[in-house]
Order: sequence, then C-alpha cells, then structure tokens
Amino acid sequence: MGSSTYSMLDGQVALVTGGAQGIGQAVATALACKGANVILGDLNAKAADLAALEISSIGSHSVGIALNVADRESVTAAIKHILGEWGRIDILVNNAGITKDAILLRLSEDAWDQVINVNLTGAFYCTKGVLPSMVKNRNGRIVNIASIVGAMGNFGQANYAASKGGLIAFTKVVAREYARRGITSNAVAPGFIDTAMTQAMPSGDRESLIKQIPCERLGTPEDVAHAVTFLVSKEANYITGQVLHVNGGMLMT
Ligand SMILES: NC(=O)c1ccc[n+]([C@@H]2O[C@H](COP(=O)([O-])OP(=O)(O)OC[C@H]3O[C@@H](n4cnc5c(N)ncnc54)[C@H](O)[C@@H]3O)[C@@H](O)[C@H]2O)c1
Repeated sequence: MGSSTYSMLDGQVALVTGGAQGIGQAVATALACKGANVILGDLNAKAADLAALEISSIGSHSVGIALNVADRESVTAAIKHILGEWGRIDILVNNAGITKDAILLRLSEDAWDQVINVNLTGAFYCTKGVLPSMVKNRNGRIVNIASIVGAMGNFGQANYAASKGGLIAFTKVVAREYARRGITSNAVAPGFIDTAMTQAMPSGDRESLIKQIPCERLGTPEDVAHAVTFLVSKEANYITGQVLHVNGGMLMT
C-alpha cells in the first residue's frame, strides 16, 4: 500500500474512529504506510492499543485512544488530548459504526437511537471537534465511511440506512461550508466488506449476496482503505462533497 503513486502524508496527524479492527484498522494501517501519525480512537481501547502497536511496528507512529463517538464529552476529551500531544489534526476518518437490525415493525426506539447516535451523531461530534484545528491550518481532510445501504436501502436496516444516508448529506454540507478553508469532505460508501460486521450474517445470506456482486466476491477492508488513501491525498484536493462507492459493481449510480 505504501508503494501507491499518491504523495506521502509525512508528519500529518490522522484520527480514525473505530480504528481497532476491520475497515478502520485497514484505513489506519494504510495512512500509516503513507507516513501519517495515526490515532486509533475506539470504544475498545485495549484492541485499539494492540492495533496501534502493530502499526507502529511497520514504522509510523501510531497510538490507541479510548473514544466513544456517541458521547460528546468523550469526543471532546479525546480531541483535546490529541491536540495537546500532536498540536494538530489534519485527517479525520469517521469510521465507527454499528448495526442493530430489525424490520421496521420490530425495530425498537432504543435500536434506532443507538445506531443514529453512533453512526451519525458520532460523526457530527468528531467533525465539529476537529474543525477548529483544520480551519486554523487552512487544511483538512474529512472522510466519512457511509455505506451502499445509505444509497439503496436494505431490508431490516431502517436505522442503519437512515444513519448512512444522513451521513452522506452531512458530508456534502461540510464540503460546502469549509471548501474555502482548504478542507475537503467526502464519503466512501463500501458495499459488503468481509469484516466482523458481515461475518455475523448467516452463510446462506452471504452466498446469495455474493451472487448480486459483479466482482463475485465481498470487498476487503483494504479495498476501502485504498479509496480513503486517495481522498486524503494531495492529488484529491479538488474533490469534495463526493461519494466514492467501493462495492464491486453491486450498485452503479
Ligand atoms: N463491513 C461492511 O460490510 C460495511 C459495509 C459498509 C459500511 N461499513 C461501515 O464501515 C465502518 C466500519 O465497519 P466494520 O465492518 O469495520 O465494523 P467492525 O464492527 O468490524 O468495527 C467497528 C469498530 O468500531 C468500534 N466502535 C463501535 N462503536 C463505537 C463507538 N461508539 N465509538 C468508537 N468506536 C466504536 C468497534 O469497537 C470496532 O472496533 C462502519 O461505519 C460500517 O457501518 C461496513
């Protein structure tokens, strides 16, 4: 991944939420391979520490930090800590996300609230938290990990689809408001990626899902990480407010 043609991110400071495993971990690793200092914020602080240790062993400086994106105080404390230690945040990847699936008539208010709070409100808290540093430096890259489900809906995922559709709309507002400050805001919308989130699906469902994907496989976390690496690169500085779909052709917009 370090050999890609995009410019290096040497010395830049990146916060990846939900960075302890899956897509977040792959994104954090990819950014570190490009020379960024990467902070992995995760509910599971122990796993974030372990993932950061692994990343540090490949050369770049990486640390784990306890973070609950759905808790404004936790977000404020984490960002204050990062700014105290590193002095800046150049890249924010809003990746932390959860599912609580049920068809609408069985969907509890609690499951609705939890998913919206983590996937959408969490991105709001983190973005608002890092913006002052980015505005001051007149430089910033924000990438929101949305989902194919935010564009096409999915049976049993009203809460999740609403959170990801909302995240796409949020991405565009941030892009419009902060473009003139040198900050880009884009979304990456993965299709179905082979992580703990999809490994929880019954195997029959996985097989029928793969039949709907022209590339005939689930995506890998690295497939998503490559897209993020491009969007945070210097070469992508005229790209903002966009949704980059990484779905093996499952949805063509
Ligand atoms: N796996 C897929 O097929 C897929 C497809 C489209 C979009 N996505 C999105 O990609 C992102 C990552 O998904 P994944 O498959 O790697 O998931 P995952 O479940 O493997 O990892 C999610 C990480 O987020 C952390 N997390 C959960 N709640 C948090 C909170 N409140 N604060 C901080 N961290 C929290 C978890 O501890 C975990 O480390 C999510 O936003 C997900 O919606 C995934």
